[in-house]
Amino acid sequence: QHCFTKSEDGFLYCEGLKVQDVMDVVERRPFYLYSKPQITRNVEAYKDALEGLNSIIGYAIKANNNLKILEHLRKLGCGAVLVSGNELKLALHAGFDPTKCIFNGNGKLLEDLVLAAQEGVFVNVDSEFDLENIVSAARIAGKKVNVLLRINPDVDPQVHPYVATGNKNSKFGIRNEKLQWFLDAVKAHPNELKLVGAHCHLGSTITKVDIFRDAAVLMVNYIDQIRAQGFQIDFLNIGGGLGIDYHHTGAVLPTPRDLIDTVRELVLSRNLNLIIEPGRSLIANTCCLVNRVTGVKTNGTKNFVVIDGSMAELIRPSLYDAYQHIELVSSPPSDAEVSTFDVVGPVCESADFLGKDRTLATPSMGAGLVVHDAGAYCMSMASTYNLKMRPPEYWVEDDGSVSKIRHAETFEDHLRFFKDL
Ligand code: LLP
Repeated sequence: QHCFTKSEDGFLYCEGLKVQDVMDVVERRPFYLYSKPQITRNVEAYKDALEGLNSIIGYAIKANNNLKILEHLRKLGCGAVLVSGNELKLALHAGFDPTKCIFNGNGKLLEDLVLAAQEGVFVNVDSEFDLENIVSAARIAGKKVNVLLRINPDVDPQVHPYVATGNKNSKFGIRNEKLQWFLDAVKAHPNELKLVGAHCHLGSTITKVDIFRDAAVLMVNYIDQIRAQGFQIDFLNIGGGLGIDYHHTGAVLPTPRDLIDTVRELVLSRNLNLIIEPGRSLIANTCCLVNRVTGVKTNGTKNFVVIDGSMAELIRPSLYDAYQHIELVSSPPSDAEVSTFDVVGPVCESADFLGKDRTLATPSMGAGLVVHDAGAYCMSMASTYNLKMRPPEYWVEDDGSVSKIRHAETFEDHLRFFKDL
């Protein structure tokens, strides 16, 4: 069951609510519209898949940092993966259990590591200098830090180079030839560091589970080597990265169960606790960016649908040439001509497009047009370029009503940065 469905008469619904009806009542456009029940279903799919394993679902907050969504994920039992001090603070604010939180990153700052040490979150070691900073943070906080080594397994995730992280030229993680240096460094700091596990993250939008399996085999070998040196390590963290069906072609993509099943036996054979760090596969398909058509134009040989949303609200197509499915919220009149359009925003950049060469019935001015799968890396990557203020967010509740879950950013918010200067 998926939250967004099209009725036979051509209306887009979110959990039984006509998106057109929501557009008629919200105060600002464009806006993000989520389904809370879909978020729940996505978490339940992971929980079901993880049955029989000791595990932590560390939701990657970077994918979407809406506080209401975080609180909901926390209530469903998720932990959190953090990549900045502010993400750490937000996770604590949202009430996440620090012992289910993992602080990750190649440039963690000392002050943020001190907070992580004080709160008792897991910290992934990324480099030599990172290890030194974690040792300093432990001393300042007066607490021993539970660390995992982020090992770069050098596996090709077969994704866009911008979202590949576990290959040999990546800026993330420790190269395996350096492993011994890190083990010795941990041994040299028994009062500051407790090595509890190994971590890897291969990349994002991965659609073949064999890639996770290959990495897990390598990681378990590293864990064997580490244990052979007397370390009692219990955690294997295989990161996030599971892709979703952005193309809506009905292609069968691996599910959370497929992902977990491919590593289950390995994890059990070594009596490990499994940490996973999903972002996209928990939240992307729970949301649409809802836009309104400003007008339709033709230049040369190209047709354009101009909408009020843009690369400022949703940058993935501009940044990664990413495909996100686009459709109208209601069918236009049957005599509307079907053409190929670039769907573009009003921002002064030729890179400002939400979709290229999309076949659509020519929409009328004011028609609703959605960009699907906008729950991950869309609002969290939104900017105020061209002073397009960040849009509001709404979700459909379990009872089918709509609630606002984030206010629209306003022009006054912008002026505030210059007050009393
Ligand atoms: N863990 C680590 C260490 C990560 O670096 C990431 C994502 C995740 C977990 C979550 O991965 P996910 O399950 O969401 O694929 N902005 C890009 C995606 C960047 C992902 C960065 N790391 C996009 O819009 O596609």
